Amino acid sequence: MNKIKTAILISGNGSNLQALIDAAAAADYPAQIALVISNKADAYGLTRAKNAGIPAHIISHKEYATRDAFDRALHAALTQAHIDIVCLAGFMRLLTPWFVEQWSGRMLNIHPSLLPAFKGAHAVRDALAAGASETGCTVHLVTPEVDSGPVILQAHVPILPGDTEETLAERIHKEEHRIYPEALKLLSKR
Ligand code: GRF
Repeated sequence: MNKIKTAILISGNGSNLQALIDAAAAADYPAQIALVISNKADAYGLTRAKNAGIPAHIISHKEYATRDAFDRALHAALTQAHIDIVCLAGFMRLLTPWFVEQWSGRMLNIHPSLLPAFKGAHAVRDALAAGASETGCTVHLVTPEVDSGPVILQAHVPILPGDTEETLAERIHKEEHRIYPEALKLLSKR
């Protein structure tokens, strides 16, 4: 089986990375996790990559004078590894329109809300603060405008009385770990 070479970009814990690694272990899964890139040297996701025997690079944004130079370094690492699809999984950097254009139709992101509701970096907190009765998560194609590209899959998650940001985030994460591998599978088969 000719598997789609996929890179996962992270900045932190990497629980979605883990879900993708686990799904990709199945013989009939159409994508292979071929590369992990973190912009942070202390991201736990790097340990997950190492444990799974996946090549991992640290490309620190601090070492580049401009956003553009950082994105060009990312792009170079991806093309050098012959990557077909990029998955953003808790990657906390805004990407330039140039970079997004290079990966148009081939880059996914996961966001912890039912987009277009609660865009931005505090989606779980914002859903709680709004008094919503449900929220969820979304896997979408990345376009230059943040958290706005075409939706591939969504899952609904109830907001329960007494929820804190932590309890709600945990409930959302369970659904993220289910739909991200599904969405990558769908894009890989296109
Ligand atoms: C997830 O909630 C995802 O929706 C958001 O960042 C978080 C990453 O979590 N984009 P993890 O690093 O995959 O555990």
